Amino acid sequence: MRCDVLTLFPEMFTGYLGQSVLKRAIERGLVRIECHNIRDWAKDKHKSVDDRPYGGGPGMVLKVEPVVDCVETVQQAAQPVGHLVMLTPQGQRLNQAAAERLARHQRLILLCGRYEGFDERIRDILAPEEISVGDYVLNGGEVAAMVVIDAVVRLLPGVLGDEQSSARDSFSGINRHLLEGAQYTRPREYRGYRVPEVLLSGNHEEIAAWRQRESIARTRRRRADLMDENRAAEDD
Ligand code: ADE
Repeated sequence: MRCDVLTLFPEMFTGYLGQSVLKRAIERGLVRIECHNIRDWAKDKHKSVDDRPYGGGPGMVLKVEPVVDCVETVQQAAQPVGHLVMLTPQGQRLNQAAAERLARHQRLILLCGRYEGFDERIRDILAPEEISVGDYVLNGGEVAAMVVIDAVVRLLPGVLGDEQSSARDSFSGINRHLLEGAQYTRPREYRGYRVPEVLLSGNHEEIAAWRQRESIARTRRRRADLMDENRAAEDD
């Protein structure tokens, strides 16, 4: 996959892309991530990318010309032109199904906003898919873009060591609407807290059944809303 990030703060991505899973995926050529500074497409000598909103009001609005020029140039710089995603709190909320859908694209272009928002004509002209990472307002789309990249890249074939491991995550594969249950590693006992006997039994069937029960119980306690989705899925 190739992923182009359009932002006013490309440096924000250096630390994140240089660590752990993302670093290894990039080094192994499983994903290529290119950051572009929207300011490079500013038209005036002050390199301005934002302006006051018509009609008044607080804050600044991202200008249409630099953003549209930046997106169009980046789209044309490689094939395919890519699926354009705008990060905004007004978008559809990201969930695992959306991450899986995005992971099927060969190329994504992630457009990060700053200030109070985008000139509406950016939407009119570019018709992006709009994605929110949650019902709260961030200072900009950069952290949201990192969330999207993180959720998508771990789904790409070969990125995680054990091919199975992303399929066993909460919200994935057999756990589509379930939270992951309790996990333990050594020691067997710590401050009087013991690892459940069943996990030490070596009986794989019993362990699988225990994990399934734990997962359902945890989901019921913490996220009753997801249990409704499980019932709906069972009905299907
Ligand atoms: N930009 C600001 N807040 C955001 C959010 N919640 N999701 C995506 N982009 C954003």
